[in-house]
Amino acid sequence: MVSDKVSIHGAWASRWVFILAATGSAVGLGNIWKFPYMTGMYGGGAFVIMYLVCIFLVGLPIMLAETLIGRRGRQSPVHSLGALALESGASPRWSWAALMGMVAALLILSFYSVIAGWSLDYIIAMGDGQFAGISAEGAGAAFGALTADPWRLALWHTLFMLLTGFVIARGVVAGLERSLRIMMPLLFILLLVLLGYSMTTGHFMQGFHFLFDFQPDRLLEGVLAALGHAFFTLSVGVGSIMAYGAYMPRRASIGSTVLAVGILDTLVALTAGLALFPIVFAAGMEPGAGPGLMFVTLPVAFGNIAFGQVMGTLFFVLVLVAAWTSSISMLEPAVAYLVERTQRRRRLVTSALVLLCWLVGMGTVLSFNVGAEAKFFVFAADGFHLFQWGAEGGRNFFDSIDYLTSRILLPLGGLAFVLFAGWVLRREAVREELAIDNPLLFGLVYWLIRVVAPLGIVVVFVAELMK
Ligand code: TRP
Repeated sequence: MVSDKVSIHGAWASRWVFILAATGSAVGLGNIWKFPYMTGMYGGGAFVIMYLVCIFLVGLPIMLAETLIGRRGRQSPVHSLGALALESGASPRWSWAALMGMVAALLILSFYSVIAGWSLDYIIAMGDGQFAGISAEGAGAAFGALTADPWRLALWHTLFMLLTGFVIARGVVAGLERSLRIMMPLLFILLLVLLGYSMTTGHFMQGFHFLFDFQPDRLLEGVLAALGHAFFTLSVGVGSIMAYGAYMPRRASIGSTVLAVGILDTLVALTAGLALFPIVFAAGMEPGAGPGLMFVTLPVAFGNIAFGQVMGTLFFVLVLVAAWTSSISMLEPAVAYLVERTQRRRRLVTSALVLLCWLVGMGTVLSFNVGAEAKFFVFAADGFHLFQWGAEGGRNFFDSIDYLTSRILLPLGGLAFVLFAGWVLRREAVREELAIDNPLLFGLVYWLIRVVAPLGIVVVFVAELMK
């Protein structure tokens, strides 16, 4: 029987709000910043194809697993997993996977906030006309000046953490649902305005071909990156979606809902690419710039074409909104867990966690400047060092947290969630929650959850570690 439990934190008004929330979580810096530059680096269409394959074979099955575990458990991820494990006669230690995910989400939030904070700086600089007519060197220098200044970075990081905490503190309905109902339509409108604008640049088809022309010889080049990105862009592997699933109405079909989220997320990534590359080409720049695409190449592009100042400002507002609707989903699992566990007020718990993430995020702030030489995980000639100042190789604080989360914790979390849904929960329970009527289609989806997704994760996990 479909469970009739309800969450103590509240419930979404409809399945539509779950779609808004999960899409808000999924659409973020990953779509607007990472996806376009990775496509630029890994050869356009070849990367796009691998990315789509990974989304459908691995990413969406994990999202299904998370949503159905959350809705059946009706509690924070840690408690949902624990309760369902007991119900199914399995070890309650399965909840450790969600605990690990929860910590990973907080770690991701700590650096995500720093990068999202840059968009605040850029909204002001763009709106103020500081990029008008700027050269590539000028934009590079402006970006360098921002990252070199720990005080400026700390200011924006602080502000962004406060924005995130503000929404979460007000609760599932008054905070999350209400702000998502405003921010998500805004996000889509901004994206469409930018797309319309890029169609007027006269370079639209050039951008289109870049994104979709297929070079078969480059197909395998980006496969590892594509899978890692599929995790990140769908927000799976840490319990964000699981936490949102707990607030989902009982009757909604999880299968079609999750498919809608996956399609929307992909559409936004492709649209962002279609909107941005023509603008880059119109300014006579190269799209393969790597991570600097958003903060160096684009400002130059916007600074040198008609209406660039207005459009550039709108673009960074879009980035801010997208990042904001993602960051709240990183905080929710931990807030829900601590509220359940300590019975304290949501506001108090949120404040404590915001402070914690803020502190860890200061490590990322310093990695771009005074702390750039603080290296972790150093493999040197004289052996392994956990920490060494100024070591050759090794990773600074930001790179270490990024590596630890996206290469290790996300895949492990995702693996645990699909295995739990596929092998611990009863087949009947999964069938009921997914509500896929066609037996053939259900069989296919169940097989993706049980076999294909776990194998995909393991293969890529091992390949990544050996790189
Ligand atoms: N999906 C978001 C993006 O594309 C980032 C994100 C939100 C995320 N919640 C997450 C990534 C949880 C990993 C895990 O920017």
